[in-house]
Amino acid sequence: MDIRIQRTTTPKAKPADESQLGFGKKFSDHMFVMEYTEGEGWHDARVVPYAPFVLDPATVVFHYAQELFEGLKAYRTADGSIQLFRPDCNAQRFIDGCDRMGIPPIPAEDFIEAVKTLVKVDEDWVPHADGTSLYIRPFVFATDVGLGVHASKHYTFCIIVAPSGAYYAEGINPVKIYVEDDYIRAAPGLTGAVKCGGNYAASIKAGELAEKKGYAQVLWLDGVEKKYVEEVGSMNIMFKIDGKIYTAACTGTVLPGVTRRSIIALCQEWGYEVVEGKLAIADIMQAGREGKLEEVFGTGTAAVVSPVKELTWKGESVEISGGKIGPLTQKLYDTLTGIQWGRIPDTHNWIVKL
Ligand code: COI
Repeated sequence: MDIRIQRTTTPKAKPADESQLGFGKKFSDHMFVMEYTEGEGWHDARVVPYAPFVLDPATVVFHYAQELFEGLKAYRTADGSIQLFRPDCNAQRFIDGCDRMGIPPIPAEDFIEAVKTLVKVDEDWVPHADGTSLYIRPFVFATDVGLGVHASKHYTFCIIVAPSGAYYAEGINPVKIYVEDDYIRAAPGLTGAVKCGGNYAASIKAGELAEKKGYAQVLWLDGVEKKYVEEVGSMNIMFKIDGKIYTAACTGTVLPGVTRRSIIALCQEWGYEVVEGKLAIADIMQAGREGKLEEVFGTGTAAVVSPVKELTWKGESVEISGGKIGPLTQKLYDTLTGIQWGRIPDTHNWIVKL
């Protein structure tokens, strides 16, 4: 792929205090853009100064939400070099998501080249402070103009990057999660397994209600019986019960997380049995009552490994690990972040140097 580079002549000031970055609030000087036209394919790949899009009010994406996004990070290591974590997994998930959303796919090698090129141009935006990284947000959206409901013949693919700190205000401190019993996030045949904005739009009201009650996020149950745990608002979730690790299987309603599969690989290497399947919320609460619910943690690119200290379902709460981060959760966090920031050797070939 040929990528044209046009550098900004008016660079922005970089965040002065990296401890105050938050998540996805400030964006770098540049963005990657290319367009798709039916008959021509993807074309005009370029890195240009970060700027707003001008779109007709009748653009398809505003009305019918035909779009998709990804999330990955660039990490600065102690020697100053920059590296990515498993970008091939994000590229493949993007291809799978495009297929579900009727969007022409972007070849994995072009996706990765686009990410690398933008991060290189904006390498000074990769923050230095402990625990910070450059969050990379690739996304694609339909740009046909008109109100007919059909697959668009034109699309824009864009990547923006944001120097970021922890996703949760709590950082690595354990969060409280509300088990959602009213609204659902996904059902068989729908789009739960892909990263389309519609999944998140449908989750916002439940998340807001939970937040008002003092919870960080909601835990979604399956959309048919509201019986089995699936995932949390912005991460997959895992339960350590009586020595074994349980998480929902990726059978179409759960996002196949890159962090999720990396954590499963680490747990298995360390000798844990990992069960990917149906896990009833009633059984989790029972394990909690019996003191067998040893640890609960979320996994995600943005959230990394995020301990859960309390689950509330139908008015009953169970406390986990005495409200503290559990030893396995801490070891997973230390190991994963160690690999990502280059403090621990990458024996899995997960790291891609810039
Ligand atoms: C990520 O972890 O990269 C995500 O996309 C979650 C996001 C919705 C904040």
